[in-house]
Amino acid sequence: MELNQLLGRIVDEVAPLRGSGVVADYIPALARVDPAHFGIAIADREGRVHGTGDWQMPFSVQSISKVFTLALVLAGSDEALWRRVGREPSGNAFNSLIQLEHERGIPRNPFINAGALTVTDELISQVGDASGELLAFLRTESGNPDLRVDAEVSASEASHADRNLALTHFMASYGNMRNPVGTVLDQYVRQCSIEMSCRDLALAGRFLAAHGVRRDGSELLTRRQAKRVNAIMLTCGTYDAAGDFAYRVGIPGKSGVGGGILAIVPGRCAIAVWSPGLDARGNSVAGVAALDHFTTLTGWSIF
Ligand code: DON
Repeated sequence: MELNQLLGRIVDEVAPLRGSGVVADYIPALARVDPAHFGIAIADREGRVHGTGDWQMPFSVQSISKVFTLALVLAGSDEALWRRVGREPSGNAFNSLIQLEHERGIPRNPFINAGALTVTDELISQVGDASGELLAFLRTESGNPDLRVDAEVSASEASHADRNLALTHFMASYGNMRNPVGTVLDQYVRQCSIEMSCRDLALAGRFLAAHGVRRDGSELLTRRQAKRVNAIMLTCGTYDAAGDFAYRVGIPGKSGVGGGILAIVPGRCAIAVWSPGLDARGNSVAGVAALDHFTTLTGWSIF
C-alpha cells in the first residue's frame, strides 16, 4: 500500500476514537487542548517525512523527551547511568513512589519519572544546560530551528511539581542525585515542556530507526546502544501499559501525557502520532489505535 493511502486509511480507522479519553488536566495549558486533534507523521531512514491530519501542529512532548535525554546521556557515557537506574518495567504508574523505598532509591527504568529525573541529573553533570543541549539536538535533527520550551507549560509544571520534587528528594536521600534537587527539577520541567509537532518528532526520532546514525551521517549511538534504547522503549515506554502496547502495537514506543507517542520500526522508520485524549494509564487512545492499525496494515510489528 502506498504511504499516503496508508495514512488516509489509518485516519479513517481511528475517526470514531477521536475525542475519546480525557486530556491531562493537572495544568491548565494541557487541560484546554481539544481532545479531537489527531495527527500522524512517518519519517523514513533517509529523512523523508509524510504526514496527515494535525501533523504539523505543535503539542507538549512531555515524557517523550525522556527518550532523547536517555540517548544523549548514553552517547556521553554508557556506564555511569546504569549504576543509578534499572532497566525493568515498573508495572506502576509513571509518577509512583512505591518501589523507590524498597529498591533503595534506584528507579526501575529511565522512563518512569524517577528514572527520568536521574537521567536529567546525569545529563546536567555531563553538559550543564541539559534542556538546552536537548533543544539543540531536537532542532538539528528535525530541521526546525523554532522549537522551544512553552513558557506557560513550564511555569505551570514547576508550580505542580510536588510529586516530582518528592521523588527527587527521596533519591537524593539515598545518594542517587549528583546535582541540587531544584536544578534537576528545573531542567526536567523544561524538557517536558518542549513543544513539537508529529513532523518534528518523527524526524528527531529517526536516528533510532537508523541504528543510532544522525541526520548528518554522524553516529550518536552505536548499533548496540540504539538497539538497547529501542528495547527499553518497548518494555518501559508506556508505563504500566507496556505489555498491552507490545500486544497491540508490537514496536518500541514512548508516550507523553500531551497525547503524543513516538514509535520506532528499527531499520525502517520513526512514526509520531498525536491525539490528546488519554486512557487511564496516560497513553493516547486514538494514538495507540493508530499505531495498532499501522503495524497490522504494514506487517512491520517486530513480532
Ligand atoms: O513529570 C510529569 O509527571 C509530567 N510532566 C508528565 C510526564 C508524562 O508525560 C508522563 N507520561 N505519560
